[in-house]
Amino acid sequence: MFVSGEGAPYLSGADWWRSAVFYQIYPKSFADGNGDGVGDLIGIRERLDHLQQLGVDAIWLSPFYKSPMADGGYDVADPTDVDPMFGTLDDFDALLAAAHERDIKVTVDIVPNHFSDQHPWFQQALAAGPGSPERARFIFRDGKGPDGSQPPNNWPAIFGGPAWNRVPDGQWYLHLFAPEQPDLNWDNPEVSAEFERILRFWMDRGVDGFRVDVAHSMAKPPGLPDMDLTDYTGPLTQLEDDLRFDQDGVHECLRLFRRVMDDYPHRMAVGEAWVPDDVRLARYVRPDELHLTFNFRLIEAPWSAKDFTEAIDGSLKAMAEVGAPCTWVLSNHDVVRHTTRYGGGALGQARGRAAALISLSLPGATYLYNGDELGLENVELPDEVLQDPTWKRSGYTDRGRDGERVPLPWAGDEPPFGFSTSSATWLPMPAEWGPFTVEAQLQDPQSTLWLYRRALQARRELSELHGSSFAWLQAPEGCLAYRRGPNLVVALNAGEAPVELPPGEILLSSSLIEGDKLPANTAVWLRV
Ligand code: GLC
Repeated sequence: MFVSGEGAPYLSGADWWRSAVFYQIYPKSFADGNGDGVGDLIGIRERLDHLQQLGVDAIWLSPFYKSPMADGGYDVADPTDVDPMFGTLDDFDALLAAAHERDIKVTVDIVPNHFSDQHPWFQQALAAGPGSPERARFIFRDGKGPDGSQPPNNWPAIFGGPAWNRVPDGQWYLHLFAPEQPDLNWDNPEVSAEFERILRFWMDRGVDGFRVDVAHSMAKPPGLPDMDLTDYTGPLTQLEDDLRFDQDGVHECLRLFRRVMDDYPHRMAVGEAWVPDDVRLARYVRPDELHLTFNFRLIEAPWSAKDFTEAIDGSLKAMAEVGAPCTWVLSNHDVVRHTTRYGGGALGQARGRAAALISLSLPGATYLYNGDELGLENVELPDEVLQDPTWKRSGYTDRGRDGERVPLPWAGDEPPFGFSTSSATWLPMPAEWGPFTVEAQLQDPQSTLWLYRRALQARRELSELHGSSFAWLQAPEGCLAYRRGPNLVVALNAGEAPVELPPGEILLSSSLIEGDKLPANTAVWLRV
């Protein structure tokens, strides 16, 4: 086991984000401070000790802005105010100050592709009518067909159904996501000016950075041509070559963000850009664009040393070309939790722990999703509680993303497990989550929580893990291994049988190692 030391202020200066560990908080699900069954900003502040003891460097808060919650807050009605469900701006300031006191940086979501249909701009656009400057802030078009009753093109929305909605005067507006999320027109300078204001508002308040929502979506192809839907597989998916995303024009929008951010020292932005190709992804982190961009190939990789190796190698090479660090992530609020993806149960737990030791030992930044540190799995929820718009929009065929958004269990033996004082939590919590609570795991030195704590502490203390030095090592079939710096070796056995343990002193392992074998579904950090 790794033995703790003092811990060092290893992330300082302008480049702190290059090897930081970020922790994503889904505000509805982290901790409820006012007893209404929904997480909030006060709840987060009250639980900062957990994050400090875990050893994260920064948090990313998913949206807590004023919103009718058609898409869990990604439908923003006022991007510079807090939704009453989550508290007030004063609560935000108090959270920010309390996090900074603990040396935890705070980053927030920015949602530039769309506003809520309840945002005053959209209400004004509806009232002002076709051809008005108010409509020109969004993407309104006349329909096709003699009476304009057909949508302007054949694009599907990500949550299902067509990407167009018709308004009473006959025009249609584009919404890549839910109809309650009208897309903004980034060709209109009023839109970029508004986002400059929003970025400055939060940076003036003291936030350390942003996560840019669907950073590959703001620009649309000229003329909005039809897509070739031959290979389209349905909601929550994109095509390899998808006209709705990754248009060259998005990079101009990101350059604008960067110019604004460069006015403020030590800030960072990470992009959410689902592009299938490492080289195209690297375009998002060119020196005048974003600082980081999530590598989703690792999220998409099945449990296999070969797939992990390809995902890691492709990203390392492509990011090196543009001088940006890689950004690793195993789970978030949009994808099935990795313990479940890797098989669930004891197998999923073992593999999830091993994967954590991989993502935390690769060069670059790493994002954890709230509950990763507890080994939480997705929850099978009954139909009647589902809230993700995908459920309804897909005609009740795709259950959507609620299974990974269930509130966190903190303490006790029964729901709501200290998450709230109300048992009517916004999504029900499984009765069998007692062993997953923070309280229970703190009492068990072999728990996933302790594994994460040790790994984060070791990551702070092992200077090999802060730089970019990385070299693949030979590994048996079904395994992968790499060296960080001159003396640190990381090995993963993703196969089904034990293999010989590489030589070295064990600093940390994801499961118990006895003798000279590296068990299946286990990763290890070794000092050589
Ligand atoms: C991003 C968010 C997702 C949201 C979508 C629309 O993909 O992560 O939760 O539904 O954007 O804003």
